[in-house]
Amino acid sequence: MSLLTVEGLRKTHPGARGGIALDDLSLTLAPGETLGLVGPSGCGKSSLARVLLRLDRPDAGSIRFEGQDWLALQGGALRRARGRMQMVFQDPGAAFHPRATVAGALADALRLHVPAPRKDWPGLIAARLDQVGLAPDLAPHPVATLSGGQRQRLAIARALVPNPKLIVLDEAVSALDTVTRGQILALLVRLQRQLGLALLVISHDLAVVRAVSHRIAVMQAGRIVETGPADQVLDRPQSEIARRLIAAVPQLPRTGDPP
Ligand SMILES: Nc1ncnc2c1ncn2[C@@H]1O[C@H](COP(=O)(O)OP(=O)(O)OP(=O)(O)O)[C@@H](O)[C@H]1O
Ligand SMILES: [Mg+2]
Repeated sequence: MSLLTVEGLRKTHPGARGGIALDDLSLTLAPGETLGLVGPSGCGKSSLARVLLRLDRPDAGSIRFEGQDWLALQGGALRRARGRMQMVFQDPGAAFHPRATVAGALADALRLHVPAPRKDWPGLIAARLDQVGLAPDLAPHPVATLSGGQRQRLAIARALVPNPKLIVLDEAVSALDTVTRGQILALLVRLQRQLGLALLVISHDLAVVRAVSHRIAVMQAGRIVETGPADQVLDRPQSEIARRLIAAVPQLPRTGDPP
């Protein structure tokens, strides 16, 4: 059974900049699957993420998540269900309260989603930090003193607090240097395997989705124009836009290649 089934999503943004952001978009995601969603800037990736996370209403279409009519959820039922689908954004700084501490950022998520007595929080916080490769003694430090990579680890730890089934990552590693980016992608792969998490990894950068995805969907002008197993899309792209995105990935010289 699919974890997420999206059918016929349509979203138009009003205003001068506006236009059709999602145009009859459909996709499915299986439990424990990593789907890479790639496409050029402005094709509607973030619009899709916002609609999935119930931050924006679509004009038309349906979303089923864990067997529920996701767009029909309201009030308390929506608040409880939100923990099942979490999000990690691009900017690790803006995702936290400016004066939050590491422990405080996780405590906010515990308060919202986990009915545990306060005395258990320090232990739960330490376990979450450890799970994403952060030293538990970072807990009292201000988030503002962390590096970009550490902040993104913290954002992932916070997303894990409600034990979600799906995490949507919108350009979550785009602001990081290449070494840190590789470390965060490796962390995501490890968590996905350990926890059986499904991931929707959104990026304009094919190298990012290639590193983590079981399947890749290629998006253009509000639609999915191609989808398939990662190897198939990368080795035998069918659409012109997929070919262009593949050609844009820099080919790094292998060790031992002549300069
Ligand atoms: N709040 C908004 N108001 C008006 N237009 C918007 C709004 N958000 C997005 N759009 C428009 O919708 C289209 C899709 O934008 P979106 O941000 O979803 O693309 P994207 O694929 O995430 O791009 P990027 O790779 O640059 O992040 C674009 O034409 C954009 O200008
Ligand atoms: Mg975007």
